[in-house]
Amino acid sequence: SATLCFNLAAALPSLPSWLTSEFSAEIPEEIHYFTWHSPGPNDARAPCPMLNTLANHGFLPHSGKSITERDTVNALYTALNINQTLGQFLFQKAMTTNPTPNATTFDLDDLDRHDILEHDASLSRGDFYFGDDHTFNQTIFDETRSYWTEPIIDVQMAANARLARVHTSNATNPTFMLTDLGRKFSFGETAAYILVLGDRVAGTVKRSWVEYLFEKERLPLELGWRKRKVEISNGHVGNLLQRIVNATGASAQDKEIMIKRGGMHVGL
Ligand code: HEM
Ligand code: MG
Repeated sequence: SATLCFNLAAALPSLPSWLTSEFSAEIPEEIHYFTWHSPGPNDARAPCPMLNTLANHGFLPHSGKSITERDTVNALYTALNINQTLGQFLFQKAMTTNPTPNATTFDLDDLDRHDILEHDASLSRGDFYFGDDHTFNQTIFDETRSYWTEPIIDVQMAANARLARVHTSNATNPTFMLTDLGRKFSFGETAAYILVLGDRVAGTVKRSWVEYLFEKERLPLELGWRKRKVEISNGHVGNLLQRIVNATGASAQDKEIMIKRGGMHVGL
């Protein structure tokens, strides 16, 4: 048939080397970007929309289990242009959630353990007190989204959404608490979706790309997102995190909550 009238031999020299070389060690990013499978019943997933996304694409093991430092650093670098130092730092944090002594790997559901990294007032997950701190929750995410009032989210909108979740949790969860680390992570996660999906200088990101990531646990490639061209480092996280804190600090109420619950040093 006409559709099969295609000269393979003529096409071969133009094929990329990774496809023609039998011994190619690295799987190219293009394969994972355009591969995506939802998790199966035995696959582990996390309270983190991005780690789930990377597992769904196969940048991380699709099982979500036995994830090594190498897996983590490679996945974050290849898929997202997060540098090795930040990748190693995040892996070390993840390892604190694996209860097995001397472990060298973690499973995505180790990250569910409450008040290690996982914290109250998440943007898209319920509080531990209500029974599920890790599954995507559309009702909670709809509350978060309602503060992203423009097609481009800026630092102030991002800070407002986060703070609203803190207020709601504080009002509804009698055990509400943010540890120092939980609070840092909470600000860091807001910084992370801007950094990885958006413009770290302007502090802006397309709302549709963020919603797509959270709701589908898939990279928003079909909406035009591509890996950021400039490597993402700890310094970038620190800078954007501080801008989120500053935008939040305008609200005296946030400090009040932290003082009342006694979980926090108020470092605003
Ligand atoms: C949430 C761990 C990488 C974005 C979380 C949570 C954990 C976690 C434990 C749950 C916190 C909570 O809401 O209670 C990790 C680890 C990573 C990693 C160990 C790397 C090894 C990333 C990256 C991004 C990201 C690269 C970039 C976009 C987020 C966001 C949330 C989150 C936006 C908040 C989800 C929500 O509040 O509903 N992460 N994460 N994470 N993570 Fe990650
Ligand atoms: Mg949480």
